[in-house]
Amino acid sequence: MVPEVVFVLGAPGAGKGTQCSLISDEFGFVHLSAGDLLREERQRPGSEFGEMIEEKICNGQIVPVEVTCSLLHKAMQKSGKTRFLIDGFPRNKDNLDGWERVMSDKAKLVFVLFFECSRDKCTERCLSRGAAGSGRSDDNLESLQKRFSTYLNDTMPIINHYDQQGLVRRVSAEHSPEAVFQSVKEVFGKSGLERIAN
Ligand code: C5P
Ligand code: MG
Repeated sequence: MVPEVVFVLGAPGAGKGTQCSLISDEFGFVHLSAGDLLREERQRPGSEFGEMIEEKICNGQIVPVEVTCSLLHKAMQKSGKTRFLIDGFPRNKDNLDGWERVMSDKAKLVFVLFFECSRDKCTERCLSRGAAGSGRSDDNLESLQKRFSTYLNDTMPIINHYDQQGLVRRVSAEHSPEAVFQSVKEVFGKSGLERIAN
């Protein structure tokens, strides 16, 4: 069976990770966060990409797709599962083109879940996550400004690209995780993806 993929996009702090863990519990998806995989690779002793990844993350820039896509592909294979939430990907045209080159015949994109949230709310969430000790080198005002420009300039065009294909499912992510998850459940309910155990 060809693996099924849902891409999860939204501004930094929109709540992608929080919602993905709720979805994976309830709908039997494997949650793969591109950002988490890159942070893991950065920490891996002997990684030839560690420094480059750290520099990109601090500056809110996007790591070349060859690195990210190969981490995603490996994690998909390692899981042995067939349903994936891919969180924070594709973030720009390089991500999109790279995925299509390598993965389009290895996985089926079901839809793109897009969390809409105001910049103020997103900033507040990332700053409090930083203050609560996220340990992330990019949960500070300076990195956040750069992450937002990348989101507006590079990621929004990707969301628009999928929107033109009728693949985007929008959810307002302004409120509490529980409230947002109610809307997420409606999207999954309508998608024909029945629940499976993880
Ligand atoms: O999604 P998350 O906020 O964890 O991403 C953190 C950082 O990881 C991004 O700002 C970017 O520097 C890097 N990243 C990337 N390519 C992706 C996802 C994340 O370069 N597809
Ligand atoms: Mg995240």
